[in-house]
Amino acid sequence: MIINTLKLRDFRNYGEIELTPHPGVNILFGQNGSGKTNLLEAIHYCALGRSHRTSQDREVVRKGAEMAAVGVQLHKSGVRMDVQVKLTPGEIRKKAIFVDRKRANRLSDLMGHVQCVIFSPEDLMLVKEGPSVRRRYLDMMLSQLSTAYFTALQQYQKALDQRNALLRDAKKGGRLDQSMMEAFEDVMAAQCAVIIPLRRRMVARTAEVAEAKYMAISGRPHEKFSMCYACCVPEQAEVVGYVRESLQKGRQEDLYRGGTGFGVHREDINLTLNGREMKVFASQGQIRTAALSMKLAQLAVFRSETGEAPILLLDDVMSELDMTRRTRLLEEISGVQTFITCTDESDLDGCRERRSYQVSMDLDGFAHVRENSAGAVVTTAIDSLDELDFE
Ligand SMILES: Nc1ncnc2c1ncn2[C@@H]1O[C@H](COP(=O)(O)OP(=O)(O)OP(=O)(O)O)[C@@H](O)[C@H]1O
Ligand SMILES: [Mg+2]
Repeated sequence: MIINTLKLRDFRNYGEIELTPHPGVNILFGQNGSGKTNLLEAIHYCALGRSHRTSQDREVVRKGAEMAAVGVQLHKSGVRMDVQVKLTPGEIRKKAIFVDRKRANRLSDLMGHVQCVIFSPEDLMLVKEGPSVRRRYLDMMLSQLSTAYFTALQQYQKALDQRNALLRDAKKGGRLDQSMMEAFEDVMAAQCAVIIPLRRRMVARTAEVAEAKYMAISGRPHEKFSMCYACCVPEQAEVVGYVRESLQKGRQEDLYRGGTGFGVHREDINLTLNGREMKVFASQGQIRTAALSMKLAQLAVFRSETGEAPILLLDDVMSELDMTRRTRLLEEISGVQTFITCTDESDLDGCRERRSYQVSMDLDGFAHVRENSAGAVVTTAIDSLDELDFE
């Protein structure tokens, strides 16, 4: 998968910009706060319809603007296509998605067209933090690979929110409507039957790769890293029946808690090193190696599932890595279109097949991108953009 054109309008600190990235490595360098991560975020929007660092679309619209738009034109399996996302936080339909210039009705219509894997210093949270970070890791991966998964997750979440609302109302002194509870629990159970098998398969595949990568990076064969899916349903049980029964049994306790204590929204991936929980036991270096292995595994699984490499976004990770891990990462990115942000271009000296862009911000707060070799400013006026006009 190769992005030929990336376009932003009124996105973060960008006014109007169009880039034609290199099919190999694209280095975005510049001072802190200049707008490097904003470019990666724009690509992330085209892949998942959302930011990787905020859940508030409003935040990404340039201060003073009403609307932001991002778009990519790409080649995928030899076919050219384009994807655009337009954000208008002030309007009722806040997000508009266009695939090949046709307006899509649902967010799920966007999924899978642009696939990306993002590495950032926050990846360490994959090991250090609570289960929600690891669920997001899994959900991001599966949502891009399976529309059925993404849709099931959305419907599960909606039914869960509705069940929780009933519980909260009842806690305030109302009566718990048992038949409504049952209706929402049936939806949750049915969606679990889609979600759980896909999570099982995905964790098993990712774990196999990540465990091997860990060993290769650490160079210590006696250090065994493991990833294991902590599923809410036992292996042998029938999913729908088990989930329904567990939810029903949990009603009283949930009423007291004011929320739902059982389900796929509480699951985790257990990470261990030689059988001991990493979060409490591992050193900083071991945590870094585990997080990097999990991300590299994500890249490898994407490649093998789709037959094509996803777009790789590396946000500020080079300076965080020692030489061994950096070399390992650079080996993995050959043949993958990659966008790397850094403050010092020399961090990427070992990298061939690349193009460098200098990102800077002017006195009015607008970001500009300058292709380093040619020195030409890439920011373009609106009327000269015919390649990827926004709908
Ligand atoms: N909605 C917005 N409107 C205008 N400017 C914004 C908006 N959101 C963020 N910015 C600006 O974008 C800049 C941050 O951009 P970004 O996070 O891409 O920086 P960076 O180059 O990655 O920096 P670092 O090297 O510190 O990671 C800040 O100057 C911030 O003020
Ligand atoms: Mg940044």
